[in-house]
Amino acid sequence: MKIAVYPGSFDPMTNGHLDILKRAASLFDHLIVGVLVNNNKKCLFSPEERVDMINEAIQDLENVRVMHFNGLLVDFCDKVGATAVIRGLRAVSDYEYEVQMFAANYHLNHKVETVFLMSQPKYSFLSSSVVKEIAYYGGNINELVTPLIAEKLKKRMTK
Ligand code: PNS
Repeated sequence: MKIAVYPGSFDPMTNGHLDILKRAASLFDHLIVGVLVNNNKKCLFSPEERVDMINEAIQDLENVRVMHFNGLLVDFCDKVGATAVIRGLRAVSDYEYEVQMFAANYHLNHKVETVFLMSQPKYSFLSSSVVKEIAYYGGNINELVTPLIAEKLKKRMTK
């Protein structure tokens, strides 16, 4: 059974993340979305909120599970029996960071491969930060995130 982890901050998950998630789920027997609990990074949503928002979006995907994790990604992969990490690549600008992360993870554990999936061109500009900024200024985010996430973001921005 081939298990992959799709890790990220997902603060919040965008439709670009969701597209990568669905495509990865079709390539592996089981996909675990790993939501990083990172105390050093100031997140808008708690790990529980981020997990719940992703869960709501993947109800129809039977081979996907969402978990949060702390610490090293390769240790989380070991814990859940995953041999692959999924990362989305949007543009050349993502490459340097992703290569560094791949190299660090590979150095730590040769048994965990990284599989890169290219984002669809329509999502090439999309990131959690961009969505938060648009929402902050009251712009339309309806095509960028799920309806539930759009609603939660709008509420959070007006608090
Ligand atoms: O969505 P993001 O914020 O780009 O995801 C980054 C993430 C969560 C994949 C990365 O920060 C991560 O794996 N963090 C856990 C610590 C770790 O294992 N780092 C890699 C070795 S330096």
